[in-house]
Amino acid sequence: MRRKISILGFSGSLRKGSYNRSLLKAALELVPEDATLETFDLEGIPPFNQDFENRPPAKVKKFKRKIKAADAILIATAEYNFSIPGVLKNAIDWASRPHKDNSFEDKPVAIMSASGGMLGGARAQYHLRQTFVYLNMHPINRPEVIVTFADQKIDDKGRVVDEKTRKKIHELLVALVAWTRRLQEQHK
Ligand SMILES: Cc1cc2nc3c(=O)[nH]c(=O)nc-3n(C[C@H](O)[C@H](O)[C@H](O)COP(=O)(O)O)c2cc1C
Repeated sequence: MRRKISILGFSGSLRKGSYNRSLLKAALELVPEDATLETFDLEGIPPFNQDFENRPPAKVKKFKRKIKAADAILIATAEYNFSIPGVLKNAIDWASRPHKDNSFEDKPVAIMSASGGMLGGARAQYHLRQTFVYLNMHPINRPEVIVTFADQKIDDKGRVVDEKTRKKIHELLVALVAWTRRLQEQHK
C-alpha cells in the first residue's frame, strides 16, 4: 500500500454556519482511502504585521508547521466583495513569510467555494489562483467545485445534502491526490 497523501484544509470564512466550513466538513467524510484530511481553523490569527514575521504568534507558528507537514492543501473560500475574505488573505500572508520561509512553496492545492448566489464564489477562486502564482503553489484545474445557491444544497445543520455537490467534492479530492502523487514522482 502506498503512503497516504496528507491534506490540510482550511476555510476562509469564520462564521459558525459558514457554507464553506460545511464544504470542508463534507470533504472530511469524502476523502479517498489513500489520503487523510486534517482541518485548521483560522480563527484567532491576528492581523499581519511584517515587524513580527520572524517571530510570529503561536497560532501562526502552528499553522505554518501544519502546512509544511502536509503533502497538499485544500482551501474552501467565501467570496467577499468579488475577492477572497481578508481573513484568508491575512492567514496566507503570515504563512508565506518571511520570504525565504514560504510555507506554501511547491505545494499542490485545490479550491472549493460556496455562496448563496448564482456565481458560487467563482470570482474569489480566480483571485486566489493569482496569489498561488506568487506563492509558487500548484493548483489543480479540474474539477471546479463552485457551489451556487448553497442554501439549497446545505441543510440547516451544515451538512452538504446535495448528491451532485458531494460527488464533485470527492472528485476534487481524488484529483488532488493524483496530482500530488504525480508531482512527488517528478521530484524523485
Ligand atoms: C463582506 C461580505 C461581502 C460579500 N461579497 C460577496 C460577493 O462579492 N459575491 C458573492 O457572491 N457573495 C458575497 N457575499 C455573500 C457571501 O458569499 C455569503 O455570505 C456566503 O454565505 C459567505 O460564505 P460562508 O457561508 O462560508 O460564510 C458577501 C458577504 C459578506 C459578508
